[in-house]
Amino acid sequence: MNRVYIKTYGCQMNERDSEAVAAMLRARGYRIVGDEGDCDIMLLNTCSVRDAAEQKAIGKAGYVSHRKKKNPDFVLGILGCMAQNRGASLLDQLPDVDLIVGTQKFHQVPDYLDNLRAARDAGVPIGETIIDIAEEAGSQNTIKDHFEPGAGENGEAGEVAPQVNAFVSIQQGCNMDCAFCIVPKTRGDERSRPMDDIVTECRGLAARGVKEVTLLGQIVTSYGRRDYAHTNGISPFVQLLERVHEIDGIERIRFTSPHPRGFKEDLAAAYGRLPKLCEYVHLPMQSGSNRILKAMNRPYSRERYKEIVDSLRAVRPDMYFSTDIIVGFPGETDEEFEQTRELFEACNYDMAYIFKYSIRSGTPAAGMGDQIPDEVKEHRNAVLLDILKRNSERRNAVLLGTVEEVLVEGPDKTGQRFTGRTRGNRVCIFDANPRLIGQLVPLKIERASVSTLYGELVLQGVER
Ligand code: 5AD
Repeated sequence: MNRVYIKTYGCQMNERDSEAVAAMLRARGYRIVGDEGDCDIMLLNTCSVRDAAEQKAIGKAGYVSHRKKKNPDFVLGILGCMAQNRGASLLDQLPDVDLIVGTQKFHQVPDYLDNLRAARDAGVPIGETIIDIAEEAGSQNTIKDHFEPGAGENGEAGEVAPQVNAFVSIQQGCNMDCAFCIVPKTRGDERSRPMDDIVTECRGLAARGVKEVTLLGQIVTSYGRRDYAHTNGISPFVQLLERVHEIDGIERIRFTSPHPRGFKEDLAAAYGRLPKLCEYVHLPMQSGSNRILKAMNRPYSRERYKEIVDSLRAVRPDMYFSTDIIVGFPGETDEEFEQTRELFEACNYDMAYIFKYSIRSGTPAAGMGDQIPDEVKEHRNAVLLDILKRNSERRNAVLLGTVEEVLVEGPDKTGQRFTGRTRGNRVCIFDANPRLIGQLVPLKIERASVSTLYGELVLQGVER
């Protein structure tokens, strides 16, 4: 009766939070299972960034709550951003949910499940829904040290392999107030973890064989701005990169998501001096129109954005870029979209996440007039996707025949071959010996689809 299935929606931060919840539950004797049909407790860790993400989780929860009819002891919990955003009002649509836990209370989940189990064991039917979406001082420090020994011993899918890469939370929340964005509401004020704690966590990960870390936060480039001083013009975020860079065993460093405003000279220069910093940057543009950027409350211009891209390419000519774009922000005209299209084309992205604007109630943009019709958003979305496809094919064509450094992550989806990523974050599929999991190996690229590279390991005198 202690088998837990966790389903995660949305961003890497959510994945990280789910990992942390899983680790805390394992430490309490729960089993984390990979088969949702085979669980006693289902936790949905949700996303609120667009309406579609919320509807998906609500649909799932509605469907799953039927299980309670057959099994009244079945426990259903909603965690994370949608829990925070909607709170008790979720019960209007989902009266059978047992647990609603917000983004600052993940660490309470084991206690709440213990309470529900104790009540059930005492023969008390599950009664009132437990709802906890309060703020908690210091909650940014509760998501840490999640890879406790013994994780994966229960035969969960994909967890027996050694840990190769890890997400490391460096900060929670955001104070930027972009007009479209619900995150300041769901994740709260910007709070950074102490630099020493992060470095200690990364050292621990390296000692366990982790080679690649991705530093996570809603606005990582603002990391520590209230807690640490600049030293010789170097921001706290770049100081953190320097310290992680010094750790033996960590071979690759990534981060997400930054804000263009944080790409000052010190960060561009860091790409020149920190070779472990991967030549892949996710740099959310949102729009290429200065009027729309202003309406979005994004404090940069298209000219400044392009300057950042150029400055990074100047330091690392082989830099890979990805971005986030919103099409159909209220009032976006054809000419303004054309400006986005033009800048999108000029930046030559390798990857992009293109979103149709979604009204988020309580955000400034929700109240703006001139909402854009769906068909227009759809068309603008398709235009950008088409450019992206061509960019990606062009990039892959250049890679054919070259040798790329790949970090072997584990078996691919089919279980027949192996998967890993290049420093530029391209996914590769190849044959390998399982012993190479966690190793950096040279891969000769032989074939490519739009999103995946296929190749053969170049290992002289070593068994593949
Ligand atoms: N509608 C559409 N996309 C959004 N994003 C954030 N809020 C919205 C919204 N209301 C996108 C932004 C952000 C990414 C995580 O999600 O592009 O960078």
